[in-house]
Amino acid sequence: MFISENLGVNHLGNLTICGADVVDLAKKYGTPLYVLDENLIIKNCNRFNDAIDKYYNGHGLVCYASKAFSCREIYRLIKGQDMGVDAVSLGEMYTALSVGFPAKKMHLHGNNKTIEELKFALENNIGRIVVDNFCELKDLNRLAGQMNLCAKIILRVKPGIDAHTHEFIKTGQIDSKFGFAIETGEAMEALKLALKLENIRLKGAHCHIGSQIFDSRPFALAAQVMAKYSKDVKDKTGIEFDELNLGGGFGVKYTQKDDPLECEEYVKAICLSLAQKCREYGLKLPFLIIEPGRSLIASAGITLYTVGNIKTIPNVRKYVAVDGGMTDNPRYALYKSEYEVIVANKANLEKSEVVTIAGKCCESGDLIGENIALQVAQPGDILAVCATGAYNYSMASNYNRNLKPAVVMVKDAKSRVIVQRETLEDLIRNDL
Ligand code: LLP
Repeated sequence: MFISENLGVNHLGNLTICGADVVDLAKKYGTPLYVLDENLIIKNCNRFNDAIDKYYNGHGLVCYASKAFSCREIYRLIKGQDMGVDAVSLGEMYTALSVGFPAKKMHLHGNNKTIEELKFALENNIGRIVVDNFCELKDLNRLAGQMNLCAKIILRVKPGIDAHTHEFIKTGQIDSKFGFAIETGEAMEALKLALKLENIRLKGAHCHIGSQIFDSRPFALAAQVMAKYSKDVKDKTGIEFDELNLGGGFGVKYTQKDDPLECEEYVKAICLSLAQKCREYGLKLPFLIIEPGRSLIASAGITLYTVGNIKTIPNVRKYVAVDGGMTDNPRYALYKSEYEVIVANKANLEKSEVVTIAGKCCESGDLIGENIALQVAQPGDILAVCATGAYNYSMASNYNRNLKPAVVMVKDAKSRVIVQRETLEDLIRNDL
């Protein structure tokens, strides 16, 4: 009935997540509030881990793309699942290391890593630096030399695959700010340079073809292209890659219209295509890394708001305004992303209205969604926006000096705060 398997309705007609009454959570912790379901995150991690075991004999590592949601507790949880982490900034590396996340299981990404980030990664022995461009390759060689270290890298390449998804989040095609293009020869040139540089140890290659992709074929194709690139590298240089990192991007269900595959299907397509091509080309099977972000955590999260005013503009629309908005969920403003929304204290009632849900920021585009089917909402009701576990908290801002909400984790119906609500003191902390 609901978009995510962890949602239900209790005897009071209230929405529940992982068995916890969300109206109670809103009362206890206040709104806006991010709520995550630990059981579902763990289940998702297990599914990916098991799929790598099943389809690739366990010869791989699932790295959580922590840009989807990053805080100390999530790194503790991911560490507990024996997974790796894809970090993309000093802040993500620092947060993960602060809870003892094993550095060697971390991959540092980024199209324009700062010298500070590169130094930090080298000093802290971050497992792999995913090199994006020639400047970075040379900087890294110089820095590693100064530090008397050898930088273990993989090269980010563009396999030239145009995955069908929102245009802003396509990254595998030629016109992308990320990586070296294979088809122009740039990726081969980068590889040859990497092999020449003294303080660089090349371990393999990486690609990421986009995000929120519903089809397994682009992933299979990317695996084939990467195997072909590996073969060309071997033919031209005699070097055989130890590992391939094929990124993330597996789609999730935000609304009833979305029809993603089960996560095992994506992994299967990748593993089988890669193994088949490696056999065909006479290559050893590389250690395989995948980097799911959204698919591990999106469906495990909801955001709770309190309804404020309701404004009906005759013959135009009805606005239901909430106490958050683009500051805690910028995805509608950025991508027109759609969500399922429920009046949490009326979850057993029919959705008999179609409304626009407005945030509280001074900006007309500050909407959570338009034309949303909803139970009849009144001021004081609690709204739950579903499947907001990914790219909501991590993209939150303080626009209009709004405070970032707290994050609450629910496990077996018990809740605990994992990120405190920001305070007014937090807001002015760095102001002089
Ligand atoms: N690996 C790399 C190198 C990436 O760039 C990304 C996402 C991932 C893995 C994880 O992708 P996922 O499995 O989460 O789709 N802010 C956008 C999404 C941007 C994704 C950027 N890269 C959104 O809210 O939809």
